[in-house]
Amino acid sequence: MNWLGLKERVAVVTGGASGIGRACCIGLAEVGVFVVVADINEEGGRETIEELKKKYGSKHLFVRVDVTDRHSVENLIETTVSSYGQIDIFINNAGINIPRLLVDPEGKEELTEDVWNKVVSINLKGTYLCAQIAARRMIKSSSGGVIINMASEAGTEGSEGQSVYAATKAAIYALNRSWAKELGKHNIRIVGVAPGILEPTPLRSKEYERALAYTRGITVEQLRATYKTISIPLGRSGRLSEVADVVCFLASDRASYIHGTVINVSGGKSRA
Ligand SMILES: NC(=O)c1ccc[n+]([C@@H]2O[C@H](COP(=O)([O-])OP(=O)(O)OC[C@H]3O[C@@H](n4cnc5c(N)ncnc54)[C@H](O)[C@@H]3O)[C@@H](O)[C@H]2O)c1
Repeated sequence: MNWLGLKERVAVVTGGASGIGRACCIGLAEVGVFVVVADINEEGGRETIEELKKKYGSKHLFVRVDVTDRHSVENLIETTVSSYGQIDIFINNAGINIPRLLVDPEGKEELTEDVWNKVVSINLKGTYLCAQIAARRMIKSSSGGVIINMASEAGTEGSEGQSVYAATKAAIYALNRSWAKELGKHNIRIVGVAPGILEPTPLRSKEYERALAYTRGITVEQLRATYKTISIPLGRSGRLSEVADVVCFLASDRASYIHGTVINVSGGKSRA
């Protein structure tokens, strides 16, 4: 644990109220990081804080944020700095997925501008606003920092019924490479993480499964079965803690020369 050297660093985790974000909060707190759980979901955020408090003490904080709203993100950063005096790590993890077909001959689940705007706004604009406002603060403090952006293997592989989601995740690769070129001189590292098939999170809701199964012309039961039969060289889905472990390593100085790239965490299912 001490090997990572993260004790008393300060990390913000967006989407920290559930799934991968909550696992990252737990992983970071376990190695001594002060964690700011940032989410639009207050109930889930407070549950994460309760879990952190029980296991790792009370130095963690929940801040409600809507990542699509500049003022809300500014408030998140200001609250973090006024509470801890610094911000060392920003995990840009909040994201959504709404399955739709580009063209649905049945006219039921076709990609609309509303769906497009919603997914792009949270996954892409949210990532941009958070990175910009966090990086400004890191530059001002002149002590550098690390920004980790949550991609997905869908960003390189594409995904039937999930084109807008895949497009926002592909964009993370380009943002990472570009921001790495801009921010390296300020001692700010930018890294991405691209998970593959994981144990279920709230993102895989009933409505999500219904819509995705529809776009693929199969039943929800058949969709669920594909998670078991899909070819993953390690022969199983990933655990959320396995993504969190990678995030902790990347956030630490042990990863001090990893910059501008995206780390695939898919059990060998995809390569990029
Ligand atoms: N679960 C997977 O298999 C998987 C695979 C690859 C990538 N990802 C990515 O990992 C990230 C987390 O996914 P997850 O599966 O844990 O999903 P999740 O639904 O469990 O968590 C997403 C969180 O983001 C929050 N959020 C949504 N809109 C927000 C907003 N406007 N402002 C602030 N917070 C907001 C939600 O409240 C939720 O707590 C996403 O970016 C997702 O694309 C997930």
